[in-house]
Amino acid sequence: MKIHNMIEQAVEILHRGGLVGLPTETVYGLAADASNPEALAKIFAAKGRPIDHPLIVHIGDIHQLGHWAVDISDQAWTLARHFWPGPLTLILKKAPHVLDSVTGGQDSIGIRIPNHPIALALLAQFGNGIAAPSANRFGRISPTTAEAVREELGQSVDLVLEGGQCEVGVESTIIDMRGVVPRILRPGMISASEVEAVLHRSLLNSDQSIRVSGALESHYAPETKIILMNAVELDNFLRKNSGNERFAIIVRESFSLVSYFQHAHPAISFIVMPQFADAYAHDIYKVMREVDKERFAKMIIEQVPLLPEWDAVRDRLTRAAG
Ligand code: TXA
Ligand code: MG
Repeated sequence: MKIHNMIEQAVEILHRGGLVGLPTETVYGLAADASNPEALAKIFAAKGRPIDHPLIVHIGDIHQLGHWAVDISDQAWTLARHFWPGPLTLILKKAPHVLDSVTGGQDSIGIRIPNHPIALALLAQFGNGIAAPSANRFGRISPTTAEAVREELGQSVDLVLEGGQCEVGVESTIIDMRGVVPRILRPGMISASEVEAVLHRSLLNSDQSIRVSGALESHYAPETKIILMNAVELDNFLRKNSGNERFAIIVRESFSLVSYFQHAHPAISFIVMPQFADAYAHDIYKVMREVDKERFAKMIIEQVPLLPEWDAVRDRLTRAAG
């Protein structure tokens, strides 16, 4: 089917209260009409997600922001104008009509314009807000391909729009814009320092006073047990290891001893990841998902650098290791 026919079909599904697998630049979303309570209920059922976890509303045009949120500060408008469409979710005070199933009963709303041609085409044709959490079952890794959405949700999604592998690969940066000083609630590939540069001020660090489902301990976890080690720990581990157990070891290109250890330990599978944060983020969920299917005894991941550009990846790896 041609892509514009697929989008027409997706619009129809949304209008009649169904669910659509939606490619965005970050991860695939599970999309429903943000104004239809029955459709929203299907999201929670399909994901097995507790109903008090709020959803992000996706809009196609910055002029729709005022329909969903009130008391929007100049700083919030500045960020929206600068980063949208893009991987930045703003938390704002919700407009009165916004449904409890979108906000988890809180008086705030999370909102963004995604930067993906198919998502933007769907939003333009649908014309209204689309609620979309990541299209995984609750507590599992977000899907970054259409195939992974089908694996996660199977029959409970009416249509999955094919949009290729997600460009960014990890979920959007979430920033609470309700206070005088903005606060990052979830790190993403738009870093705190990029936001600070645009606003000419520093931000608060995240705290746990707001419910963010990604902040639960076991979030973003595959089935295989994950252990994080820095390069020195990994080196020691490999030197002491008999090599008889099936481990998957995910390292970066800088871990130079791969061919040496691979030779010594044929039962271990090494996966070499890109050296830079953007490329690493693009691949990591897909790699973890593939490794998870192979039923290794453990997945050992080389810790990533303690640098700001790695914040989002480090956050997701730490959660996955639980
Ligand atoms: O990149 C993304 O943000 C992807 C794509 C599909 O847009 N979506 C996504 O949705 O990651 P989800 O539901 O998996 O994660 C959204 C996070 C949740 O942790 C949720 O609790 C938080 O955003 N959130 C949504 N609305 C909120 C609100 N009003 N206040 C605080 N946190 C909120
Ligand atoms: Mg999620």
